[in-house]
Amino acid sequence: MDFQAIRKEYEDRGLEPEQLGSDPLAALAAWMDEATEQSPGRWFEPNAMSLATADRSGNVTVRLVLLKGIQSEGILFFTNYDSLKGKQLADNPRAAVALHWPYQGRQVRIEGVTEKTDRSISEAYFHSRPVGSQLSASVSHQSSRLASRSELEQEKQTLAERVDGGPVPLPDNWGGYWLRPDRFEFWQGRSDRLHDRVVYAIDPDGTWEIMRLAP
Ligand SMILES: Cc1cc2nc3c(=O)[nH]c(=O)nc-3n(C[C@H](O)[C@H](O)[C@H](O)COP(=O)(O)O)c2cc1C
Repeated sequence: MDFQAIRKEYEDRGLEPEQLGSDPLAALAAWMDEATEQSPGRWFEPNAMSLATADRSGNVTVRLVLLKGIQSEGILFFTNYDSLKGKQLADNPRAAVALHWPYQGRQVRIEGVTEKTDRSISEAYFHSRPVGSQLSASVSHQSSRLASRSELEQEKQTLAERVDGGPVPLPDNWGGYWLRPDRFEFWQGRSDRLHDRVVYAIDPDGTWEIMRLAP
């Protein structure tokens, strides 16, 4: 496979800061809405975002998680607090995410500080998930070593029998994080690779400074 020959042409739709407005969270919500409405199919997850975390020694890891909310508090995602990412976030709460919508030639990058959500938010989301997902999240010691898959399946079966159709308790180590952003970048692919990049960086007084970056 000749990877150097892979070459996508971008539609030439421009991006002006005025189009995005003064509130980057609202701009992100608008891009998420468009990405969801114009999704190429149910197989595509427009809310999938790469989440980068690092421990205090500077070891960086990245993985996909699902964006589950955009509110004034920030960007919401859910995970296991004892997973690798959870341990890194306990050590160093700074994180970065990137979203990519290839069919629109768009990327959004966000940096900020994470904070665990209230338990009520985790409870509500956990119990909105299919029961199978609740059982799996409950028995999975995410990111820890497993001797075999059957061990996990057996634990799920045992828990299913124990709850016997009743509610699955929210595990103590499972829940949401807010990513409270201090920097956003909205990227729009354009022809001849002369792309648009619009950055929002938070000032000490909490206002957003808006600037254009070279592609
Ligand atoms: C599209 C996609 C969405 C995912 N969403 C989540 C999620 O919302 N939360 C989560 O904990 N893991 C999610 N995962 C699994 C993570 O990528 C990762 O395997 C897991 O969280 C363990 O990561 P860690 O060992 O770095 O903590 C998702 C994976 C994919 C491919």
